[in-house]
Formats: sequence, structure tokens, C-alpha cells
Amino acid sequence: MLNTKRIRKSFPAIRCGRMISNNAASTQIPVQLLDLMKKLAVSYDNVHRGQSRSSILTTEAFESSYDTIAQFIGAPSRRNIVLYRNTTEAINAVMYSLMTEFHDGDNVVTTYMEHNSNYVPWYGLTHEILPKFGINVECRLAKFDKETGKLDLDHLSSLVDKKTKLVCCTGASNFLGTKTPIKEIRRIADASGYKQPTGENKSYLLIDGAQTVPNTYINVKELDIDFLAWSFHKMISPFGVGALYAKEDLLKNMRPFLYGGDMIADGMVTPEKVSYNSLPWKFTAGTPNILGTILSAQGLRLLMDFSLDKKKYFMTGKALDSSDIKTAMENIEAHETALIGEAMKILSEIPSLKIYGPKDPKDRTSLVSFNYEGISPFKIAEELNEFNVESRAGCHCATLAHYYYGLTLPASCRLSFYVYNDIKDVRKACDAVKKCVQFKS
Ligand SMILES: Cc1ncc(COP(=O)(O)O)c(C=O)c1O
Repeated sequence: MLNTKRIRKSFPAIRCGRMISNNAASTQIPVQLLDLMKKLAVSYDNVHRGQSRSSILTTEAFESSYDTIAQFIGAPSRRNIVLYRNTTEAINAVMYSLMTEFHDGDNVVTTYMEHNSNYVPWYGLTHEILPKFGINVECRLAKFDKETGKLDLDHLSSLVDKKTKLVCCTGASNFLGTKTPIKEIRRIADASGYKQPTGENKSYLLIDGAQTVPNTYINVKELDIDFLAWSFHKMISPFGVGALYAKEDLLKNMRPFLYGGDMIADGMVTPEKVSYNSLPWKFTAGTPNILGTILSAQGLRLLMDFSLDKKKYFMTGKALDSSDIKTAMENIEAHETALIGEAMKILSEIPSLKIYGPKDPKDRTSLVSFNYEGISPFKIAEELNEFNVESRAGCHCATLAHYYYGLTLPASCRLSFYVYNDIKDVRKACDAVKKCVQFKS
């Protein structure tokens, strides 16, 4: 289990009395990263664009951040990592980069439990962009079980065929909390028989890791994921950086999403021909979010230290040890299972409270969404705020899933916990929900 007592001391937001329970949207920043930001403020410069000591040191710190990020998810090297603003931009980048690869009659398979970031880009591609070029590509949606909240693998399998270029699935639903079985989804994508330009016969697999990478041990090689997208603002780093992992061959052959400076091979721009930079810089057009990148990589190191309860990686050049990563992330997962188990126990004591998603805490991440007949989820969230409990009401951008339940107001109220929450937070939040709904419908 995590040493939450120690972890909490690092978060100014907690020290000033806030009860943070809307972590599925964004987590808080620890003081160590704020101090690092101050330290960098006096020494930083642009990267790949200067000969000063500051520019060289910043370039080194920036580039080595890619190594940390690659190591964290078990990627072979920094060449597999492309950084964007967030998960949404990373998924859009895959869509735009692969846009010219689709053939008439192809399809993309995604699911009803996706965040809009992993549905709307595929909707846009298949309903708006490709038809303008006379190319018809279908976007298919796999169902989930409304009772258990689990993805219907038989249905998914029935949708995937030899015309499925890509299967796009979340690693965990940000509304239901459901963790999806990535290995089984991989097997389904592998069996499609789609002829990729590389000569492989299978569908690519894109995993939206926004709710998975922050709390689960993910090794892209073991899971054989083709594309993985996630955001650092959901795992103790500041806003503004999201990552895309992709297999090197894919990135080599893919068109850049953004064109411009620094993504071209040195001097290789003429009116006739432009050649691109080596990976990963081929995908880094324009001045990147340099400070955000350094802070995000250090945020990963600090998260490891928090979870391992020792000072080992933060602000060092040590490569992340794979067994430490596994232990650290399994500790976080176990902590979250304990928290969500307690939340489910208390919330399920409330008569008529509809809780969405899997019943078994082991099958879900540490978020819980619910509705209470006769009281708007917005009203519940506002009242929770009166009890100093931070929640989120709305569709959480999982609009398809809310309509799937037949909710005419596509909304629910959600509580979500992270590494700095303890069991007292969970009890406080869930007891407050009791107070908000009892005797009021
Ligand atoms: C499952 C999932 N996917 C994608 C996103 C989008 O992340 P971002 O807003 O960082 O692009 C979120 C954010 O809540 C999410 O929960």
C-alpha cells in the first residue's frame, strides 16, 4: 500500500485543506515539481535552437525526458515517443497521420464506452473528411453490458473483419471505471486479416490510456500495443503535455501530423523536396512544450518514488528499472482498488442510488459515477461542494455511454481518487453523497 501520509505532505492543495476527489479530470501538482519549475525558470532556453550553455543543457534535459517516458511504458526507446498537448491531440495525430492510408470499404472499430477523444476523431474521419475524397470508411461501435459495465468482446469480435484497419479502445472507461482486457482486444485485432501496407495481416490497436497509464502497469511490448495515448495532467504533472507511443515502423512510415520547423532533416528543404528529421523529432514541429516535457518526465520519476516510498529516481539520471516500474504501478493499482472498494461499499448502502460499471473493485479504476432518481447530478455535485467534496457532474465526455443507458440528460455525478487520497477522504466523500440524496427525492 502507499504511504499516503507522506505523499500528502507534497501537495500544497491538500495542505491548504482541499479534499481532492475529481482526479479523473486532472490531478494536483506536488511541490517538488513547482520547485523544479522555479529552478528551470532561471536556466532554460529553447531546444535545438542555440549554442549557449543554457540551450545545450535544456536540450539535454528535454531529450532525456523522452527516454524516461519511453522506459515508463516499456517502449524500446525515445524514438517511439511523440509528445502533444494531451491525449486528445495524440489520438487526432494518429487519425491525421493515417488519413491517407485508408481505402474505400475499410472500417474503424471503437466502442460505446469511449471518451469523445477516441470517438469523435474517428467520426470526423469517416463521416466528414474521407467522404470528401470519395472514400467511404465505416466507424463501428462495440457494445458493453449495461449491468456489468464490461465490454462485449463477442460483439467487438463480430465487428472486426478483414476491412478493419484500426481497433481503437479505451484502457479504462472514465465513466464506468471499467478496465478493458487489452490482451484479448489485441487477439481480436490480430485475427482480422486486414492487409496493412507493411505486409502484416492484422488491424492496428490504439489504446486510449488516459485513465490507465496513471494507475496501471502498462508495458507496450508485453501487450503488443501499436498506439498508446495518455496525458500527464492526470498523473501529478502540470497541464499541457500528452504522449503518443507508437511502434517505430509505424512512425517511420506515417505522415507527420504537423509540418514546420525542427521536424525536417537539417538543411533538407528545397522547393522540390523536403526530407524529415529522424524519430522522434519528425513529429515535433515548432517549439515544443519544453518545460512541460521536463516536468512531466520528472513527474513520472516522482510518482515512482512516491509509490516505492523511497527517493530513488526524481532528479536523477537513473534509468527506470522495469521491476521497479511494475512494483510502483501495482502498488498504485492496489491502493486504488482499496479506495474504490470502500467507496462502492458505502455508496451501495444508499437505496435507489444507481452506480454504473463493474461491481468488483478489481475490475475498475478508482472512480465511481452514479445517479439518483429525481435529483439532478449537477445539484448533487453542487451540494457536495458545500461539504468541501470536489466531484464532477456531466457526461465526462463519455456522451455515447450516457445515451446508451437511455439517460435523456446525458449526465452523472462522479467521484475519483488518486495516490494522495486516503480511506478517510473516500468515507468523507461517500458519506456526503448520502447526505445529499437522502430524504430529498
Ligand atoms: C478515457 C479518457 N480519454 C481521453 C481523455 C482526454 O484527455 P485530455 O483532455 O487530456 O485530452 C480523458 C480525459 O478525461 C479520458 O478520461
